[in-house]
Amino acid sequence: MQIRVEQVDCTEFETPLLVLNIFEGEASLTGPVAKVDERVQGQISDLIGRGDFKGTDGQTAVLYPPKGAMPAERLLLVGVGKRESLDLERLRKAAGSAVKQAMRLRVATFASLLHHAELVADRVSAREAAQAVAEGSVLGAYVFDELKTRGADDSDAPVAEMVVLEKVPDKAREIEEGTAVGAALARGENLARTLGNLPGNIATPAYLAQTAERIGADHGMTVTVLGPAELEGEGLNALLAVSRGSVEEPRLIVLEHRRGPATQKPLILLGKGLTFDAGGISIKPAQGMEEMKFDMCGGAAVLGAMQAIGELDVPVNVIGVVPSSENLLSGAAMKPGDVIRSHLGKTIEIVNTDAEGRLILADALSYLKRFDPAAVIDAATLTGACVIALGHQASAALGNDQPLIDELVRLGEQVGERVWPLPMYDEYREQIKSDYADIKNTGGRPAGTITAAWFLREFVGEYPWVHLDVAGTAYGDGKLPYQTKGSTGVPTRLFVEWVRSRAG
Ligand code: BES
Ligand code: MN
Ligand code: ZN
Repeated sequence: MQIRVEQVDCTEFETPLLVLNIFEGEASLTGPVAKVDERVQGQISDLIGRGDFKGTDGQTAVLYPPKGAMPAERLLLVGVGKRESLDLERLRKAAGSAVKQAMRLRVATFASLLHHAELVADRVSAREAAQAVAEGSVLGAYVFDELKTRGADDSDAPVAEMVVLEKVPDKAREIEEGTAVGAALARGENLARTLGNLPGNIATPAYLAQTAERIGADHGMTVTVLGPAELEGEGLNALLAVSRGSVEEPRLIVLEHRRGPATQKPLILLGKGLTFDAGGISIKPAQGMEEMKFDMCGGAAVLGAMQAIGELDVPVNVIGVVPSSENLLSGAAMKPGDVIRSHLGKTIEIVNTDAEGRLILADALSYLKRFDPAAVIDAATLTGACVIALGHQASAALGNDQPLIDELVRLGEQVGERVWPLPMYDEYREQIKSDYADIKNTGGRPAGTITAAWFLREFVGEYPWVHLDVAGTAYGDGKLPYQTKGSTGVPTRLFVEWVRSRAG
């Protein structure tokens, strides 16, 4: 979907659908909505006055202006809740609701005001509001239908274009800049979603590597892909151990975006790219196992973020790293009790082959020391325990640098991809002590998310590092108006905004 800005009065603009936002509990209309209401002989205020439209979050209604009243063919009212509680997330949701209605109405293009953001300018700038609306719109327009044969009965149709209407020239320019950023972020997140939604037989480690090559070619990034021979040569034995049970070859994918000063240490985004997790010999129950195609969502978010960073040409040095493998069963698969020597040199006792994500990340964390990172953030669908702890409302954040954790909590709230800290008390480290090796790969049931993070920390260098467990947030049933069932793309926007914030 394309977004453009038009400097025109909304009562004069010809469009099949004009979106107007309504605050909850406000009987008297103001601004452009009042002007439209006048043109349509009070239809909007009637609807509100009778109590048929309350303006609550996400409520929608379609109105048809009388012939000749105004050039718009339809009006779509979208509730945005109470004026005092309007924020960026509400704008994203309102924009998502609007675009989904537009798809249902099968219009190719629609027009929208900036969802009342102009009325709360003390809290959100036109630029921020425009970015959030673009995000909500492009994310809301996302559908994953490439594996379905299209039939004539499809009820929704893709929307090609959204036109944001703004009369004031200075504001229109700001809005243009904001929508460009928001659309790029959302396109990156939509790429992450598609990679997540694609099944294990399509989105293999080799497929993720090809996607990285394409992103690199489009945006002038250096792409390095290590296959089995190179991984062997470099000694990434933990990654190799995980992949041993599968016929799909593992990959270590490295994407380098160098747009900062040559001396600037790079930021590193690291993501778990486990393209299907059957659990290995410690096999998972059949019920719901198909969801383990989403076990590469951390890696997908890294690729989506790198695409957006390339598109926005962010003037910083950033490196994306994705270790990728399947975790299956075969006569060659690693076994409980096996001891492997990691890339770092530490030996690992495999107690449970289903704790494989930490193994492939461990090797990546020590491999990436060669880039002398300024900071590393990793995202991984690492533990079921994280879903029990935080549900689907926040990713867990753990690491060795409290200011960086605090920064991500703040940023997560702002971008609508929440993050919440869990403690890393030294005592938890006891749970992963091994009788036979330097460390073992599980710490038992208590505090499973924390002991997993402690395992990773054993392989982290001197750099500031935060681990995001996205097991509960990377995919879901698509409850938000700007989501659909399946992969959410989380934490693509958090990654990009973190990098953008470091650009000054
Ligand atoms: N990919 C899973 C974690 C997961 C579970 C993500 C449910 C999303 C939903 C991971 O590889 C795993 O299997 N973790 C185990 C670790 C355990 C064996 C210590 C888990 O959480 O059960
Ligand atoms: Mn597993
Ligand atoms: Zn896994």
